[in-house]
Amino acid sequence: MKPLLIKGSRIVDPAQGIDDTGSLLVSDGVISWLGKKGDTSPSADSDIIDAAGLVVCPGFIDLHCHLRQPGFEEKETIATGTRAAAKGGFTTVCCMPNTIPPLDSQATVDYVKSTAVEEGVIRVLPIGCVSKGREGEELAEMAELASAGVIGYSDDGNCVVRSRLMRRALEYSWGFGRPIIDHCEDTTLTEGGQINEGIIATRLGLQGIPNAAEESMVARDIALAELTGAWLHVAHVSTAGSVELVRRAKAKGIKVTAEVTPHHLTLTEEKVLGYDTNAKVNPPLRSQADVQALIQGLNDNTIDIIATDHAPHTEEDKLCEFGFAPFGISGLETALGSLMTLMHQGYLSLNTLVAKLTSEPARIIGDEHGQLGTLAVGAPADITIFDPEQEWVVDTRHFASKGKNTPLADSRLKGKVMATVYGGNLVYHDNALKLKTKG
Ligand code: DOR
Repeated sequence: MKPLLIKGSRIVDPAQGIDDTGSLLVSDGVISWLGKKGDTSPSADSDIIDAAGLVVCPGFIDLHCHLRQPGFEEKETIATGTRAAAKGGFTTVCCMPNTIPPLDSQATVDYVKSTAVEEGVIRVLPIGCVSKGREGEELAEMAELASAGVIGYSDDGNCVVRSRLMRRALEYSWGFGRPIIDHCEDTTLTEGGQINEGIIATRLGLQGIPNAAEESMVARDIALAELTGAWLHVAHVSTAGSVELVRRAKAKGIKVTAEVTPHHLTLTEEKVLGYDTNAKVNPPLRSQADVQALIQGLNDNTIDIIATDHAPHTEEDKLCEFGFAPFGISGLETALGSLMTLMHQGYLSLNTLVAKLTSEPARIIGDEHGQLGTLAVGAPADITIFDPEQEWVVDTRHFASKGKNTPLADSRLKGKVMATVYGGNLVYHDNALKLKTKG
């Protein structure tokens, strides 16, 4: 493979504290040289991307997505989901185990990993189940899953409702150095719920999901993390109260990390006013006050990372009465554009945004899978190139994902992925990218 020179861009690498104009060279799948403005590339014979005006950063890492294979290939496959991820600037995705069969054994985890190598275009790191069959009754074979290489344990889609099981899961996971990623939801409070509890639910005649349903479970999980000394990771935080609980737990020294999705950071419950089932998601879109608290939590590092919770569904799944539609938003291809809107509005710096998508999730994954989330010389050449200023309109017909279920369809976003390099290979590029290849 010819070396690839990415020239004259703004290089942002929070892991190394870099935000500077420069160039970088990729050879043999790794980053081989990082130069400042005016430095000459050590290779005279390389393909060249002219990245003037663009941002070059480590490939994005998504700690929470649904690739649906095995079992729901009509919604997404590893082939389509990883292409959607590459189009969204992601070079690593961690996939949730709510498949059929669920990822609760070495065999199913091996299946996902080998399918990803054969049919995927980026790195896929599976998450194993907490409980057998995700049924919340009996612990999954956590040691077997650890040796299969899972990056954490979750029954996502379901909360680990039984406190005793959650305690045991935390105790076992401690020995493997991996987090329990809980989908915090007290189902006795959410049963029948469709959208955020409040005035909009009342107006639409839909049953609400109160903030307390999430917060009571976040509080329980934090108490159990304190009791066991184990690592809790709170999935898709959506309320101001949850942010405050995590903030206080961190201040007490409890080992807790947390994630927030682009949709919870940028959209409110108003999005469901027209009964748009594509805005139906769990946890639900909340109020403006919650959105503000989530942004603040991200900025003060209460919330460690941004994760998409990409949850693709078919058009048929969503084309029905609100109450019958499944929860979920297809998010990989709109993540950067919607987050950049926050940046343009002054709510988030570019460096924070990039850190929450690169160095921070890499810290959670650890170094077992290589040196991820950095452009350091010698690290795998996983690189995202984006145009911070380019405006584009979301057209779901052009999604690589099978899931067209986004409330952002036809919206104008500012900030567009121009190219994604994975292990030195250009796995996605926009037609407008200035690429010169040498014979
Ligand atoms: O909206 C959601 N969809 N939330 C979840 O927790 C699960 C996900 C799915 O799998 O569709």
